[in-house]
Amino acid sequence: MKMLKIMSIFGTRPEAIKMAPVIKAIEANADTQSVVVVTGQHREMLQQVLQIFEIEPNYDLDIMEKNQSLAKITSKVILGLDTILEKEEPNLILVHGDTTTTMAASLSAFYHQVPIGHVEAGLRTWDKYSPYPEEMNRMITDDVTDLYFAPTELSKNNLLKENHDASKIFVTGNTVIDALKYTVHDDYHHGVLDEIPDDHKVILLTMHRRENQGQPMRDVFSAIKEVVTENANIDVVYPVHLSPKVQQVAYEVFADVDNVHLIEPLEVTDFHNLAARSYFIMTDSGGVQEEAPSLNKPVLVLRDTTERPEGVEAGTLEIVGTETIKVKQAMLSLLNDSEKYRRVANSKNPYGDGHTSERIVKICQQYFAQKHSL
Ligand code: UD1
Ligand code: UDP
Repeated sequence: MKMLKIMSIFGTRPEAIKMAPVIKAIEANADTQSVVVVTGQHREMLQQVLQIFEIEPNYDLDIMEKNQSLAKITSKVILGLDTILEKEEPNLILVHGDTTTTMAASLSAFYHQVPIGHVEAGLRTWDKYSPYPEEMNRMITDDVTDLYFAPTELSKNNLLKENHDASKIFVTGNTVIDALKYTVHDDYHHGVLDEIPDDHKVILLTMHRRENQGQPMRDVFSAIKEVVTENANIDVVYPVHLSPKVQQVAYEVFADVDNVHLIEPLEVTDFHNLAARSYFIMTDSGGVQEEAPSLNKPVLVLRDTTERPEGVEAGTLEIVGTETIKVKQAMLSLLNDSEKYRRVANSKNPYGDGHTSERIVKICQQYFAQKHSL
């Protein structure tokens, strides 16, 4: 039988974390060949993940610039992939999620008439600017996709509403649960925890989205500052995203606040283990919303919308927005209402059994066995 050549293309931290288990599954399969292309939309934050999962890309477009524009990312990815796709002639490309790398790589593959598999397809808020530009990135990607790997029934239904071909949509679970199997350890330790007394509650914070940069971020940080100032037994650990727009506000607002610990972005193993040891999480991240139910951690979502309603339904996620007063109320409610805390912390993970990656590779093989008699 001819080998099925699958090219995985990604460029940012979350794509790398969620594609790493898929790449491992492609490598472990005797009938599939893995080619890895990173766009380098992120540099340090991508490198951290590649190291942890021991992935050596075959190609690196190395496109990142400080404060990069969406137009620059898009055009550099499309141009950069042009020669690689021509040379490698993969049978299929795999992209993940909703970044600008995802959207631009899909367009490149379409221009080369290479079939496209979209991992984590079908997430929607139905609001063009929330999250921005991710909602439009994933819609454009799904318009050119050939195989849809929807994490849940709900994301499958979103695709059906847009009239995508039902026979090409597979509910697979989310590969983020597969990734957690590699990272969470009982005997974990991190230096930042040494600075925090044992009887303190630790809140883990991440915030980076483009639509939250500026005032919304300031408003959330003000709420956090008020809560930790009024409650001496609360510590916030915040691995600050490397985006200069995020760094500037975080280091300014929290400059004189002792129990907010601003640290470098964590390696994914550290992040997952710190999440597992936190009391609750505050975030505008997509991936973190999916990981938290598996770790039994309540999440205050610092956004007005979510494309992950499964987590809200399960009870883990609370959509809080970014207004200071609302964020503060939500924090105090989780800190003071132990009955509510227990209920939220014990909700069920809606994202699958940790075998999503193998499932995806098998579906790719079946698709090609039928269509192309490989
Ligand atoms: C990108 C994705 C977003 C995803 C996020 C995950 C787009 C448009 N946005 O947002 O969907 O949620 O990644 O983190 O695709 N930087 C560094 N080093 C790094 C990474 C970033 O210095 O390793 C700085 C650079 O100055 C860069 C800036 O951060 O220009 C912003 O990076 P960019 O990828 O454009 O946006 P993110 O906010 O990271
Ligand atoms: N993460 C990490 N280190 C950090 C913060 C987050 O490894 O300091 C991981 C987190 O576990 C999740 C992913 O990065 O898997 C989420 O990435 P991010 O929030 O950057 O992007 P999003 O998911 O919002 O697209």
